Amino acid sequence: MNMEAIFKEKTAIPEKFRINRIDQKEYLVDGTIKTWNGACQEILSPICFMNDGDLTQEAIGSYPLLGEKESLEILDSAVKAYNNGKGTWPTMSVEERIKCTKQFVSAMKTKRTEVVNLLMWEIGKNLADSEKEFDRTIEYIEATINSLKELDRVSSRFAYEQGIFAQIRRAPLGVVLCMGPYNYPLNETFTTLIPALIMGNTIILKPAKYGIILLRPLLEAFRDSFPKGVVNTIYGDGKVIIGPLMTSGKIDVFAFIGSAFVANLIERQHPKANRLKTVYGLGAKNPCVVLEDADIDLTVKECVVGSLTFNGQRCTALKIIFVHQKIADEFIKKFSDAISALKIGLPWEEGVFLTPLPENNKIKYMLDYVNDAIAKGAKVVNKDGASNLKTFFYPAVLYPVNKEMKIYNEEQFGPVIPIVPFDDISIPIKYIEESEVGQQASIFGKDYERIAELIDPMVNQVCRVNINSQCQRGPDTFPFTGRKDSADGTLSVSDALRVFSIRTLVAAKESELNNDILNQILKNHQSKFLTTDYLF
Ligand code: G3H
Repeated sequence: MNMEAIFKEKTAIPEKFRINRIDQKEYLVDGTIKTWNGACQEILSPICFMNDGDLTQEAIGSYPLLGEKESLEILDSAVKAYNNGKGTWPTMSVEERIKCTKQFVSAMKTKRTEVVNLLMWEIGKNLADSEKEFDRTIEYIEATINSLKELDRVSSRFAYEQGIFAQIRRAPLGVVLCMGPYNYPLNETFTTLIPALIMGNTIILKPAKYGIILLRPLLEAFRDSFPKGVVNTIYGDGKVIIGPLMTSGKIDVFAFIGSAFVANLIERQHPKANRLKTVYGLGAKNPCVVLEDADIDLTVKECVVGSLTFNGQRCTALKIIFVHQKIADEFIKKFSDAISALKIGLPWEEGVFLTPLPENNKIKYMLDYVNDAIAKGAKVVNKDGASNLKTFFYPAVLYPVNKEMKIYNEEQFGPVIPIVPFDDISIPIKYIEESEVGQQASIFGKDYERIAELIDPMVNQVCRVNINSQCQRGPDTFPFTGRKDSADGTLSVSDALRVFSIRTLVAAKESELNNDILNQILKNHQSKFLTTDYLF
């Protein structure tokens, strides 16, 4: 492994992946792209170049550090557009809302190259995964449109019970604050933003801490596709801009993907606990349990992608591996060899798997886990493990890990992989039961009776048990959620439409007068809510 070769001369960057500095001054408010003339935050790419003999992170642009005044202006815009549910957007028919969303998705498709390139420069995601993130987001929006059509079709008929007619539909909740994570700054942000939007809510979008200017190419599309004030964007220091939004008490839904600590800190600022609905995707420490009869080659393959895709920076990543003692040596040997075969380099290079990390101080944070584990008896068992250079950290496989080590319970969110040997299955089971989080788990083995015995205790502790497969969110039509400190609410294409809306009904006791009123409203198409029209 030649780590020095990762960071090359600027001239070695292929023409089509070069970047011109983007100094974003714009933010979207009340249907206008406004220019900010105040302070801006410099953006440093995880990609480094040699400058005057020093390896330094490339400065690729900046984004606005808006103030409290702008924050309140943005809030006002979203509140006005919702207008207590009387706004153009919340009262628009589903068909019309779908039309606007289709217009947005067409415009978004034209920005693929730009957004994909910025994903690579801002967060260091490799080309294949950056393209996948963009395409998956487009597919998610299209699937959301189809799912909403289906929901509308089901809701377009009347219910009749105990002499009462009712039409039951899902209605929007109000103003939604959407905050996404840096590891999927486009996809995961949009998996809350799009369903919230299409259900008739108005949006304040705060991008993640990294992966900000990649949303810049979409501002015009947001402005031109939706009525004014329906989508607003906010940038800056959370303490300055998010506090005023929450303390106003005017945010109806807080959609957040990130840490439980930050989610709770923000949530607590809202003065009306019951008005505020929360939709969270939070931390995880998904364990992988490798039984003694596991197919080692298959397990190694899944554990490599499970623990190291995007350098382990996925909430669903396998973050601790329990291996039966009898096969631990063979597993570790093959796992380490498989890691050695992964290509390191810059995101756009052909076949690159391991790339530099975007987070400030991340290398130190990874080394702290490694050093703490070493001090308590573990070793780095893979070749070159934990070597690092500037923003690049080569994966470290730690073995044998025990519960005294920080890495045993803490979420590393990076390329450090702890392996715990076990001879009694109660060890991983107890780990799962005592964990503060409960998103998913993976089991590797061949004996179906043994696997069945594990499924039952696990499904009541986590929300997805994967058999001979890594943990993952997709397919996006599957429910994605977690227990304990891992999530609040369930996201999937169809579930997300539900979490960002509430069931509302119009009901009437059967009588000649009421029958006539309902008939006239339906016949004359006088209500957007009360309608039996079929959405094709
Ligand atoms: O960061 C958490 C993501 O939801 C993971 O999604 O399993 O598709 O990578 P993924």
